[in-house]
Amino acid sequence: GRALLAGVIGDPIAHSLSPAIHEYWLKSYSIDGSYVPLHVKGPRFADTIEELRSLGFRGCNVTLPHKERAFALADWRDPAAEATGAVNTLVFSEEGIKGYNTDVFGFSENLKATLDPIDNYIDSCLVLGAGGAARGIIYALQLLGARQIFLSNRTHEKALKLAHELQSLEGDASSISCVPWEEKETVLKSVSLLINTTQLGMVGQPPLEISLNSLPKTAAVTDIVYKPLKTGLLEAGEVRGARVADGLGMLL
Ligand code: ATR
Repeated sequence: GRALLAGVIGDPIAHSLSPAIHEYWLKSYSIDGSYVPLHVKGPRFADTIEELRSLGFRGCNVTLPHKERAFALADWRDPAAEATGAVNTLVFSEEGIKGYNTDVFGFSENLKATLDPIDNYIDSCLVLGAGGAARGIIYALQLLGARQIFLSNRTHEKALKLAHELQSLEGDASSISCVPWEEKETVLKSVSLLINTTQLGMVGQPPLEISLNSLPKTAAVTDIVYKPLKTGLLEAGEVRGARVADGLGMLL
């Protein structure tokens, strides 16, 4: 009855690498515990959390499509969760359920480790996509000190809405400009970091179609997709001579 229990909740969940990663660490540090994948549909999320708490789970990770539900359920949230409206880690404590967003930390630590020195790349960023992942990533870029953030999304209105919400968070620290999806290549020449936050390029999804011909060779390219590890976008970035950072580091 002392084994530490935790897991990851999502729908789908079979693709998740989190159980393998956590089981590795449990074993490496000789921790008596287990970390399991939990396939849970949307309407069952809140009940499942209650069940896990009553079974003695210490907490769980939360992935698509439950990050906003986890946010709503938490009694306390860390600043990154408050800023992004998304929670990917729930800790069950005596004071209640604590909600954390480690995506923001994961994204920026991976960039700092891979694109060293990060100050060379952070000045002017182009973010593709305006979904839940983009929200955390733009917030991370603001914290890293980005001066100019271009935001381009297939549905332009979503980009405008996200820019408006995030602009007011960090005041004038970084300016966010929305670029229509069809015109995203026109800003590439003044970009030091290009980030794909959409699922385009993932196994089973359409490719991300963008020409990097005008991207400066001194720029860097990163992708949150990690299946395949080297996406079409990262391959194109390498051909262009840019530095690249893959998406696995953020997950780790
Ligand atoms: P996540 O939480 O992973 O960001 P999401 O909130 O569903 O997931 O966001 C997915 C992002 O990928 C969105 O920016 C979406 O664009 P729309 O807002 O127009 O839906 C983008 N996306 C998905 N499929 C796309 C496609 N075929 N072409 C261009 N963008 C796409």
